[in-house]
Amino acid sequence: MPNKALKVIVTRRLPEPVETRMRELFDVELNESDEKMGAEALGDAMKRADVLVPTLGDVIDQKMLAQAGESLRLIANYGAGFDHIDVQTALQRGIMVSNTPGVLTDDTADMTMAMILSVPRRLREGNILMQRGEWTGWSPTALMGHRIGGKRLGILGMGRIGQAVARRAKAFGLQVHYHNRRRLHPETEADLEATYWESLDQMLARVDILSIHCPHTPGTFHLLNARRLKLMKPSAYIINTARGEIIDENALTRMLRAGELAGAGLDVFEHGNDINPRLKGLDNVLLLPHMGSATVEGRIEMGEKVIINIKTFADGHRPPDQVVPAML
Ligand code: DGY
Repeated sequence: MPNKALKVIVTRRLPEPVETRMRELFDVELNESDEKMGAEALGDAMKRADVLVPTLGDVIDQKMLAQAGESLRLIANYGAGFDHIDVQTALQRGIMVSNTPGVLTDDTADMTMAMILSVPRRLREGNILMQRGEWTGWSPTALMGHRIGGKRLGILGMGRIGQAVARRAKAFGLQVHYHNRRRLHPETEADLEATYWESLDQMLARVDILSIHCPHTPGTFHLLNARRLKLMKPSAYIINTARGEIIDENALTRMLRAGELAGAGLDVFEHGNDINPRLKGLDNVLLLPHMGSATVEGRIEMGEKVIINIKTFADGHRPPDQVVPAML
């Protein structure tokens, strides 16, 4: 049932089928230009919307929420992570927040595996050599990387994505270790053949590859600070497809440059697209533009989730993916 009375404002371009469906269902304002909204435009949208559909990069903090109009009752985030939204304050103002979990799990886990394989096997360097036309032919000692099978993979954060990575890693012969706020159910742990470490510090010192899958919260900000990074073996690799703020990017950069870590695969950065310039151009670092969930299928499914959340809310129910304080 269309709910044309509902004013829905979307902050960025969404995949075409999602926008078409939104036009059919709601009184929707889309962002044709895809230009990121500045604080003024976002504040204006907060004033006028019944439902706001923001996404990563739209900072909805206390100050922004203070601009919300009386009619704003739902922030239906396009994305699983909601660290850019002050959910507590939104709730206090009677505004529900929902997200899009689940549908980007496999795509993000696939991308993580791609990086776990690419960095130790030096795919970036091989590609650059070919692109520059500098390859002189096969040689027994050229571009030797490190074998993946048999290595210890440490997973930091064993939620949906962490577990999807563990399943894939097992198939590649990696030994799975993990640290999580809560230990997994014994059956799940046995199924994943995963070893639990209550102490993150102890796990860090023993893994060959560390992959990050916890959310960014005040408690995980710089969880991998200089002290913890120094616990890792100099031969270890770090992969981050979660949030940049979890690693102290400056400390990581210094260690990568000093050869105190073997390499890194980074899809996310501490300050969004303002990347530490000293990370660029390093042979042992693969940098990607936050594309872990970037598949046509996944991005359409994320949009479908947003629509279901809005429709359920419009029908007078709690959105199925409402972010509740226990998740914070
Ligand atoms: C999310 O949805 O939070 C992801 O980071 C997008 O890839």
